[in-house]
Amino acid sequence: MNSSLPLEAPSLSRRQLLNFLTGATIAATAGAALYPVGKFFIPPTEAAGAGGAILARDILGNKIPATQILAEQPGSRALVAGLAGEPTYLIVKDDNTLDSIGIVDNCTHLGCTFPWNPMDQEFQCPCHGSRYAPDGTVVRGPAPLPLKIVQVAVNDNSILISPWTANDPRTGEKPWWV
Ligand code: FES
Repeated sequence: MNSSLPLEAPSLSRRQLLNFLTGATIAATAGAALYPVGKFFIPPTEAAGAGGAILARDILGNKIPATQILAEQPGSRALVAGLAGEPTYLIVKDDNTLDSIGIVDNCTHLGCTFPWNPMDQEFQCPCHGSRYAPDGTVVRGPAPLPLKIVQVAVNDNSILISPWTANDPRTGEKPWWV
């Protein structure tokens, strides 16, 4: 007579339950570990105000007060993070106010960023030599189009940047980016 206990394989439903619990535990652990990593790489979004306006910010995402930009010399171009994080030049006018037109730092040739050259009074793209006048019109190619512009306004020491959708004041025509 065989007195040993029969070895039963776990029922299919028990095995499925164990597999499910193991999978769920691994997924939950991986999700908890990856969530902060994913959040780190996704830029924060900001609810746009009236007319799609956003606040000008620095590279760290901090709001830039208007007084900080206006402390620069007249004629200065200050680079801030604008719409969708696009680097955007704000212009300090001779009367120590901000120009209502900002210039997006994105070359219309192949998208390089470029510095303002105060000696030549031009934006000069280092990639292929395009040059732009202070208002963003092309002085020398290969850039095919004027630089994109945005609206700039100051409200209670905050700098508001919003899309430019009216006719381009440099050409009198509908902007190429609209
Ligand atoms: S990307 Fe600026 S000139 Fe080519």
